[in-house]
Amino acid sequence: MSGELQLDKRLRLCAEFVRRGSIPADIGTDHAYLPVWLCRSGICPSAIASDINPDPLSRGRQTVENAGLSDKIELRLSDGLREIKENEADDIIIAGMGGETIAKIIGDCPYAKNRGKRFILQPMTRSEVLTEYLCENGFSIIAQDCCVASNKCYTVMCVNFTGDIKNTDELFYYTGILNPENETHRRFMQGHIERLRKKAKGDARFDALADRLEEYCGDR
Ligand SMILES: C[S@@+](CC[C@H](N)C(=O)[O-])C[C@H]1O[C@@H](n2cnc3c(N)ncnc32)[C@H](O)[C@@H]1O
Repeated sequence: MSGELQLDKRLRLCAEFVRRGSIPADIGTDHAYLPVWLCRSGICPSAIASDINPDPLSRGRQTVENAGLSDKIELRLSDGLREIKENEADDIIIAGMGGETIAKIIGDCPYAKNRGKRFILQPMTRSEVLTEYLCENGFSIIAQDCCVASNKCYTVMCVNFTGDIKNTDELFYYTGILNPENETHRRFMQGHIERLRKKAKGDARFDALADRLEEYCGDR
């Protein structure tokens, strides 16, 4: 992390969804920038930073030690939430992984359906797979936003379990609750349109979906 409290725009957007005073668990933390930032800025009193791999975890440990936060941030080797107990974290951040991996981590967590837990999710790829999983398994999107960092557009979703099983239109898996009036949200959806157009070369169904998404974004 450069400077005292610098966080790139993508992780900053994740941080915006973390509830003040909550205990976060950052799953797949790697360098542990996010939990360090959350504790340093006073938003969270303590945090868990976990990773499935020892090397990223030791990078995280170094960041935590350098920040003088070893008494507040616990580093833990864990596949998803396997080693994180239900009462240990309120807000669970899973950022920088593919949509399928994020869906699997949630699916494997025995307490994901505890309505008090919030998941802050930032899929690097296949956000539509993650959104479909969430819809089909009773999770609702509380808030969603996008940002541009290093000329790439990212989305972050804040979700919790509500039990509402939505038989949603496939279009929703691409739009989530993004606002077509918002330029950054539109840019994120444009990325989906481009990928759908490429896929349409092998399957015309994707062209129809891309058309609908274009219509949703409007002619601006
Ligand atoms: C690209 S890094 C993302 C780091 C940070 N979360 C971010 O968004 O900048 C992905 C990290 O997720 C970890 N990871 C992958 N699968 C995981 C799993 N099932 N459970 C925990 N960590 C995982 C990897 O070891 C890696 O350190």
